[in-house]
Amino acid sequence: MKGIILAGGGGTRLHPLTKITSKQLLPIYNKPMIYYPLDTLIKAGIKEILIIVAPDRAGDFLRLLGSGSEFGVKFSFEIQDKPAGIAQAFTIGENFIGDDDVTLILGDNIFEQDFSEQIKNFKSGSLIFAKKVNDPERFGIVEFDENKKAIQIVEKPTEYISDYAVTGLYVYDNRVVGIAKNLSPSGRGELEITDVNNEYLKLNELNVSEVFGYWLDAGTFDSLLEANILIAKREGSKIV
Ligand code: TTP
Repeated sequence: MKGIILAGGGGTRLHPLTKITSKQLLPIYNKPMIYYPLDTLIKAGIKEILIIVAPDRAGDFLRLLGSGSEFGVKFSFEIQDKPAGIAQAFTIGENFIGDDDVTLILGDNIFEQDFSEQIKNFKSGSLIFAKKVNDPERFGIVEFDENKKAIQIVEKPTEYISDYAVTGLYVYDNRVVGIAKNLSPSGRGELEITDVNNEYLKLNELNVSEVFGYWLDAGTFDSLLEANILIAKREGSKIV
């Protein structure tokens, strides 16, 4: 199993904080944000990790993370020229992935849950993780049938279908590279991860697991603050 952290993007919702640095390098209490998704991959025993970054921030990520030896893993780096979609991680990462399976995590996603058993036990197909949210119109949303089997995934639905958002952690077998290569950009010009998931759904090989504990995508001022407060509490800070 290889790992990818997607840490490009514009972070425009956090301007002006992200005018001179990357969202994923902002502090969450006592560590840069990217340390949290990195920890999720390392805990799962993943030893080779590709970090995909925006062109103007590459030097900062290299300086912060180095070769990976400090973390007991090996890092590779690639540039994403433009934020052209989450699924582009698999075409940018094609050589890195080689013949292996791959776990992708978004660089601003912070989970409480330990996914190591599920990732270590992954055999084939795909495994994604869903969490109930109050604002389903902001996410890729999974609709389940009465047996809790996924029946469709819709990107930012305008009409209510379910409260279960697809979170930024995805495990796929090697076929994901071929699937991503065959995608066409969506109306908003992105290679959509929802389209990848719907391909696995068509093959009847999409597994959806519910996330327990907190899940934060620290991309807005409020979620960034919430992440800081949660992690500060977890680390025993006396002021929260
Ligand atoms: P978003 O939060 O959707 O995008 P963003 O980080 O550019 O923020 P904003 O909307 O405020 O401009 O992305 C979620 C995560 O995925 C984030 O960590 C950035 C990453 N990402 C990329 O690295 N490349 C991409 O093409 C996309 C769509 C996202």
